[in-house]
Amino acid sequence: MKDRINGMLAEVAQAELTSPEAVEAFRVAYLGRKGKIKDLMAAFKEVPGDQKRELGPMLNTLKQAVEQKVQDAQQATVVRPQASGEDATRPSGGVPLGTHHPLQVVRREIVDIFQNMGFAVAEGPEIEDDWHVFSGLNFPPEHPARDMQDTFFVERDPDILLRTHTSSVQVREMEHRDPPMRLIMPGRVFRNEAISARAHCMFHQIEGLYIDKGVSFADLKQTLLHFARCFFGPDTDIRLRPSYFPFTEPSAEVDVYWGLKTEVDKRITKGTGWLEILGCGMVDPNVLKASGIDPEVYSGFAFGMGIERITMLRYQIGDLRHFFENDRRFLDQFAGER
Ligand code: DAH
Repeated sequence: MKDRINGMLAEVAQAELTSPEAVEAFRVAYLGRKGKIKDLMAAFKEVPGDQKRELGPMLNTLKQAVEQKVQDAQQATVVRPQASGEDATRPSGGVPLGTHHPLQVVRREIVDIFQNMGFAVAEGPEIEDDWHVFSGLNFPPEHPARDMQDTFFVERDPDILLRTHTSSVQVREMEHRDPPMRLIMPGRVFRNEAISARAHCMFHQIEGLYIDKGVSFADLKQTLLHFARCFFGPDTDIRLRPSYFPFTEPSAEVDVYWGLKTEVDKRITKGTGWLEILGCGMVDPNVLKASGIDPEVYSGFAFGMGIERITMLRYQIGDLRHFFENDRRFLDQFAGER
C-alpha cells in the first residue's frame, strides 16, 4: 500500500497536463467515482489498525496533491481570447451622437442673417397677459384671435394666456427700451388648432422690429429682400402684397419667387411660382404710443415669420407633425447640419 501511494505521488508530480481535455481525464482517473483515490480508500479500510496511523496521512497528502495538481492545471490551460491590444475595460457599444433639430438649424440661420445686419436677439415669456399679446398691439376687443377657439387661456379675468405670436415680445421690448432699436425675436407660440399635416397647436416664429427716426417702407422692403437673398439664394426675388394686421399700417405679406420648374413647384406654389413666407408692415402709431414711444418722432417696421413653414420649404418636408415627434428616422436625416 505504501509503495502504491508513493508510486502515485511520483506519477502525479510528473504528469504533464497541457490541455483542458488532459486535465479533465486526469481528474476523472484520480478523483472520479471509480478513480484511483477511491480504490485506495477502499483498500485502506481493509488494512490493520496499526498501519492506518501511518497510511492515513500519506493518503491525505496524495489526495491533496492530486487536487492541487488539477486546480493548477485548470488555471494554466484556461482558453483565453487572444489579447487584441484593445482596452477590455472600455464601455461597450458606441454612444450615438445627437443631431441638431431642423427647426433649430433654420432658426439659427435666420437669426444670424439679421444679426449681421445689426439686429440684437430678444426673447420673452410663453405665458403672457392680454396686454402684450393683444391690447398693446391694437387688437380691437372683439377680434376673433381673442376667442377661446384660437387661444389657450391659462386664467380668465384678468386673462393669462399662451402667446399666439411672438409679436408680444415687441411690446415688452418697446416698453423697456428707448429707440433706436433693432431686434430679432425667436420663440415658441401656441394656438388652439387641431393637429394635422399643415397645422399644430404649437409652433415657432421669428419676429423682427426696427424703430428709429425716419424708418421707411423702403427700409423694410430692402431689409427683407436682403434676408431672402441670403437665405434662399442671391437670385431670389420677392414681392409684397397688401394685407392687414392690427399692429401695422400699412401691412403686407411677402412672397418669394420659388419657380415653376417641377411638378412639386407647381403643387406647393399652387401654380403661381410664388410662396408666402412672412407678414410685415410699418408699426402702427397706436402701438408705438401704447408702449410709450412718440410716433411724431419715431417710426418703425416689424415682421413675423413661421420657422416651421420656412424649414418645410428648405428641406421639402411634407408633414408638420414630424417636427414634434422626435422620431430618430426623421431627425437623423439632419446629421451634419449646423
Ligand atoms: N404676428 C403675425 C402672425 O402671427 C405675424 C406678423 C405680421 C408679425 C406682421 C409682424 C408683422 O411683426 O408686422 O401671424
